[in-house]
Amino acid sequence: ELPLEELIATLAVDVPDFPTPGVLFRDLTPVFADGAAFRRMVEGLAAPQQADPRAAAVAHADDGAAHDPGFDVVVGVEARGFLLAAAVALHAGVGVVPVRKAGKLPRERVSADYSLEYGTASIEMHTDSLRAGQRVLLVDDVLATGGTLGAALALVEELGAVVTAVSVVIELTELGGRARLAPHAVHSLWTT
Ligand code: PRP
Ligand code: HPA
Repeated sequence: ELPLEELIATLAVDVPDFPTPGVLFRDLTPVFADGAAFRRMVEGLAAPQQADPRAAAVAHADDGAAHDPGFDVVVGVEARGFLLAAAVALHAGVGVVPVRKAGKLPRERVSADYSLEYGTASIEMHTDSLRAGQRVLLVDDVLATGGTLGAALALVEELGAVVTAVSVVIELTELGGRARLAPHAVHSLWTT
């Protein structure tokens, strides 16, 4: 069996100059479409502590009781993050909460503006979508500049919840997203 990193790298397709000239776009749709790759991605994203051997040891120590995945809810970012977040939540036995692009959520909401590799945008969450102290696993497909996940993190914290882990499929290291999310650790399945 191929290591997950290699499987993702093999199935992902590089698209030069999309959506704007100069951007090398990593298209993950073929990875999502592959059943085995999708299952392994979901399992990997749901276990961010495995990147940290010490935390993994702690997680094993209390295997007797109902398994605590280390988070109470998964927060996913529209649109591609939704494909992953719902599956990760189902796998871990918790609920899923959406971070949506501006103008989609009907009730009282909090908003954050951010810039990304190819434009600017605004994302929102319902004010009552998280409770104070709730432990959140934040999930998206790609960490590029970190603008999107940074804004999502700010919204989660504005609601009083605690981001205990951030999981992504691909981290594009040269865009510096990890530093932008510090001090939060990022668990990425493939770093390129
Ligand atoms: C992409 C991707 C991440 C974000 C990463 O989403 O799915 O959410 O950009 O870039 P960043 O780290 O520089 O913020 P996009 O905004 O293109 O939206 P989509 O999921 O609706 O296609
Ligand atoms: N691929 C996919 N999504 C992205 C990228 C990329 O290279 N950059 C920002 N979002």
